[in-house]
Amino acid sequence: MKVLDAEFTQGFIRMANDGWEQGWHERNGGNLSYRMKPEEVDMVKDDLKARDWQPIGTTVPDLAGEFFMVTGSGKFFRNVIIKPEDSFCIIEVDEKGENYRIMWGLVNGGRPTSELPSHLMNHEVKKRVTGGKYRVIYHAHPANTIALTFVLPLTDEAFTRELWEMATECPVVFPDGIGVVPWMVPGGREIAVETSKLMEKYDVAIWAHHGMFAAGEDFDLTFGLMHTVEKSAEILVKTLSMTGTKRQTITPTDFRNLARDFNVTLPERFLFEK
Ligand code: 13P
Ligand code: ZN
Repeated sequence: MKVLDAEFTQGFIRMANDGWEQGWHERNGGNLSYRMKPEEVDMVKDDLKARDWQPIGTTVPDLAGEFFMVTGSGKFFRNVIIKPEDSFCIIEVDEKGENYRIMWGLVNGGRPTSELPSHLMNHEVKKRVTGGKYRVIYHAHPANTIALTFVLPLTDEAFTRELWEMATECPVVFPDGIGVVPWMVPGGREIAVETSKLMEKYDVAIWAHHGMFAAGEDFDLTFGLMHTVEKSAEILVKTLSMTGTKRQTITPTDFRNLARDFNVTLPERFLFEK
């Protein structure tokens, strides 16, 4: 089967285009990666052709031999739907988890996203902690979430609690909370290490003054997670724009009641008295 005809490729393209339509991907902003299932690799194997090995820039031994579909560096999400073969690629990770090679795509040259270290280190953590269930890592530049990183304290507690409060669904959608990475130079191993540490306990990591990373089982859940966090951030931005103080909100007791009825565990460290 051709890569472009596979269902997972269509899901990848749709998610990239949905992100573009949300306004989260100015120019080449953002990147997306998907850890392929062995049967999906098998399905498209006749359409794959190996190029030279290149260093990843970090080490991901637990991803040895895995195949990923990943957006290209400098490529525009806006173009993914019309030029898929130019916009993204399939890569294979070598047996040591130190190098990758392009197996398909990026037909006009280029390389995988500059955030490949963050994507792969996050995949490595999520593969381990979810027993292989999570397959998608998504980075975007959603404006409301970024705006909040200029206003809220850059702590997991502040972001989790504020975003939980702005939409009742939030504690159910991301009960483990949200992690925050202070401003760092993007594109390298250092920010990848900090982000992947947060991915040990959260599905969402916010990069101060830059954007967001979300992790999930499939395209729907990962896109939906990013969408939910950003929607909540938008409500907070609107509220703060109208008034500096909330007249009423969801209280710690309300959250505990919600947790009981919806059968989720909400860590007490986010339910502090203000
Ligand atoms: P790439 O074009 O290399 O994917 O970079 C975009 C980006 O958002 C960097 O953080
Ligand atoms: Zn970015």
